Amino acid sequence: MTNPSRILSGIQPTGNIHLGNYLGAIRNWVGMQNEAECLFMLADMHAITLPYVPAELRACVRSTAAYYIACGIDPDKSAIFPQSAIAGHAELSWILTCHTPLGWLNRMTQFKEKAGKHKDNASLGLYSYPVLMAADILLYRATHVPVGEDQKQHLELARDIAGAMNRFYEQELFPLPEPVIMKQAARIMSLRDGTKKMSKSDESEQSRIHLSDSNDAIATKIRKAKSDMLEGISYDLAARPEASNLLSIYATIQGISIDEAQATCGALNFSSFKERLAEALIAHLTPIREKYHLLMNNPAYLDGIMHDGISKARIIADDHMRHIKEVAGFYSASHDRKW
Ligand code: TYM
Repeated sequence: MTNPSRILSGIQPTGNIHLGNYLGAIRNWVGMQNEAECLFMLADMHAITLPYVPAELRACVRSTAAYYIACGIDPDKSAIFPQSAIAGHAELSWILTCHTPLGWLNRMTQFKEKAGKHKDNASLGLYSYPVLMAADILLYRATHVPVGEDQKQHLELARDIAGAMNRFYEQELFPLPEPVIMKQAARIMSLRDGTKKMSKSDESEQSRIHLSDSNDAIATKIRKAKSDMLEGISYDLAARPEASNLLSIYATIQGISIDEAQATCGALNFSSFKERLAEALIAHLTPIREKYHLLMNNPAYLDGIMHDGISKARIIADDHMRHIKEVAGFYSASHDRKW
């Protein structure tokens, strides 16, 4: 990461956090907290782009905040806040919308995946979601955005929009945000199909490990994970997608490189390797799960953390939004003209 000054990222609070979210995103946020100012949102406005239940969303915002902290986000160092509490996200999103050519949005692959076959019934919000994501980042003039690989295209769009805004308004309103995508866990794959991303929306619970899974559930899911008939364990994405995925999960959890993981596990058969992987996952995830349950017993503490996070985020957002509105030519009551 080159000279980060402000880091922003977030997760949609739409159900259980899975291993892909943890290894691809949250784990990397934890290490960044000493390098720059960090803002970690709960992306609840993104969560309503698909059908949802309001009471579940509200509960999930709090439980996702608990997971952030249980995974190592330190509320004394980083702001943790629900996106919807800061009006600037929606305000800036509209301005950016008016500077985003439709052609740029038509290229977004995630809309096509999420809208599926019934594109005409998908909401306008699902279509323009990448613009809201750009607003999340640009509102705080974030310089670095740590995400998994599936968000890379959205980050490129955010950079394009920032550039278009800077050119149109003839000033550096926004720095061009840099994606920070860790190589090893950028794309954790499904346990049932090593060519598909591990995802909340996969119908099969067996395809992913949730941070809330019991030790038994973790062991069973790993034992039943798809394997292949080849000898030993090796990393070969094209020929052995499942073995490669399990090996990279093992390496990431153990904090070692894939080569090192291959050197220690290469001679094992699938069932011994899976046992070793399950043990490593259980050792790593148990303290997180325990801390999560402790935090969830103290909702007032979690609400206090989010309250503080909102206050920190609001100071930055309001100040920047005031400037953007001024530059955009919007009327302000503080201007000399009286109606
Ligand atoms: P979301 O909620 O789908 O995912 C949250 C984070 O987890 C990463 N991720 C993965 N990484 C590796 N392997 C996987 N299988 C995997 N699945 C998910 C995602 O890349 C992401 O980093 N649009 C975002 C949320 C968002 C956001 C933002 C992120 C809203 N505004 C501004 C950064 C900056 C999303 O839906 O992530």
